[in-house]
This record gives sequence, structure tokens and C-alpha cells, in this order.
Amino acid sequence: MIEISDITKTYVDGPLRFQALRGVSFSIDDGEFVAIMGPSGSGKSTLMHILGCLDTPTSGAYALDGRDVSELDDDELARIRCEKIGFVFQAFNLLPRATVMRNVALPLVYADVPAEEREARARKALKAAGLDEAHYAHLSNQLSGGQIQRVAIARALVNDPSLILADEPTGNLDTKTGEVVLGTFQKLNQEQGRTIVLITHESDVAEHARRIIHVRDGRVIEDSKSHTRRIIHHENN
Ligand SMILES: Nc1ncnc2c1ncn2[C@@H]1O[C@H](COP(=O)(O)OP(=O)(O)O)[C@@H](O)[C@H]1O
Ligand SMILES: [Mg+2]
Repeated sequence: MIEISDITKTYVDGPLRFQALRGVSFSIDDGEFVAIMGPSGSGKSTLMHILGCLDTPTSGAYALDGRDVSELDDDELARIRCEKIGFVFQAFNLLPRATVMRNVALPLVYADVPAEEREARARKALKAAGLDEAHYAHLSNQLSGGQIQRVAIARALVNDPSLILADEPTGNLDTKTGEVVLGTFQKLNQEQGRTIVLITHESDVAEHARRIIHVRDGRVIEDSKSHTRRIIHHENN
């Protein structure tokens, strides 16, 4: 599904240049649950923006479902984001004056889905994200942090994306609430086969994934998948 090779990203700010990614390569298959883990400033959010087609690399190649992302124009990129990818951010980004239902249905407004269908799909997404129906008419200031994050997950699911990109989704949650949210991602992966890329700086969060890609200073320093491969290779010899 995702194949990046030798991706670099240099931010240019006036005379300043900062290389946030220094040659990152990996591939992620359909149905994987991968954590990208590294300390603050290691380039995780930069990488997620590139994977989510929200930003472009300075050099290197990115193929999403076999298509070279650099060859797509803005409309095609917008369509891919809308059809294939669900985003969950640490800061939730909900509209404060809109109800839960409206927040979740909003991406469907942009996708020109008819009004009757929007509510049905929003309900389905909220159910999959595990939010109790009693909250559907609430505003975000009437919800707890964990409930808000469930709304954000539902909003990411409402377009039925095959890929979910979550950037520090438990960063603002207490440990117990974070566990529940991570359990929701595991369920979405195991039961619905969605590909999940979970970005975190915490190893106990990353351990909820089935594969961990460690990044540091803009580079991959370890990938639990290639580890496994190496071990298997050893045993065969
Ligand atoms: N728009 C930007 N302009 C300049 N530097 C940036 C920009 N965005 C991020 N950076 C720098 O790139 C590095 C990686 O940032 P980021 O991808 O946000 O890391 P992480 O998500 O792992 O904390 C940091 O040193 C950060 O300061
Ligand atoms: Mg970040």
C-alpha cells in the first residue's frame, strides 16, 4: 500500500534550512498496524504529512497503492486524502460549536454525500469508534478527552478509509483513556482490516501496534519487521 524510498524533507525558512528527514525508506502492506516511534523532533509529523499527501518530500519517491504521488495534481491528491485516508490528530481539531454528529459528518459534506446518507454513515462511524449514542447531540465542551478523541476517530472513519494515520492520538489523554483509544485502533485493524499508522514518542503506546519503526534525527534506526525477517533468515541457515 505504502512504499517510500529515500525520502528527504528540508524545511527552508529564509536563510535557514533544516533537514527533518534524511533518507527514509520502508513499505507498509495493506492491513498492517504500524507504529512510527521516536523522540520529539525526530521527524514523525513531517513523515505523517508526507504519507497523508498533505505535504511533499524534497526528494525521494512515494508510491501509494502503486501510484507515484509526485505525479498527482492537487485535485487528485485531495481526492486520495478524501477517499483513502482518515486522519486523527493529537489536538483533535473538532469544531467547538458543532454537535458530535455534525463534526463526524463534516467530511461527507465536502465529499458531496447527500444529507440523508450523511447521518447514517456518521452513526456507523461513531459506533465503530465506540462512542455512546447519548453523546451524539452534544458539543465538544460537554465531552471528556477520551470521548472527544472517539469523535475524532469517528470523523476519520466516516469516509471509510483504508488507511488511518494517527499522530500522537493519545498525547492528551490519561493512561487509562489512552488504552481504550488504542484498543479501538486495534479493533479497527483486526476486525475491519484497516491499515493503521500510529505515531508516538512513547514505547508503551507503540507496543499496541504489530510492527514498530523507530525513527531518530530524520532516519529509520530500527524496524521490528526487518528484525523478524533477519531472525527467520538465521533459523533457515
Ligand atoms: N514548517 C517547519 N519549518 C521549519 N522546521 C520545521 C517545520 N516543521 C518541523 N520542523 C522541524 O523539523 C523537525 C522535525 O519536526 P516534526 O516532524 O514535527 O517532529 P516530531 O513530530 O517527531 O516531533 C523539528 O526539528 C522541527 O523543529
Ligand atoms: Mg509531531
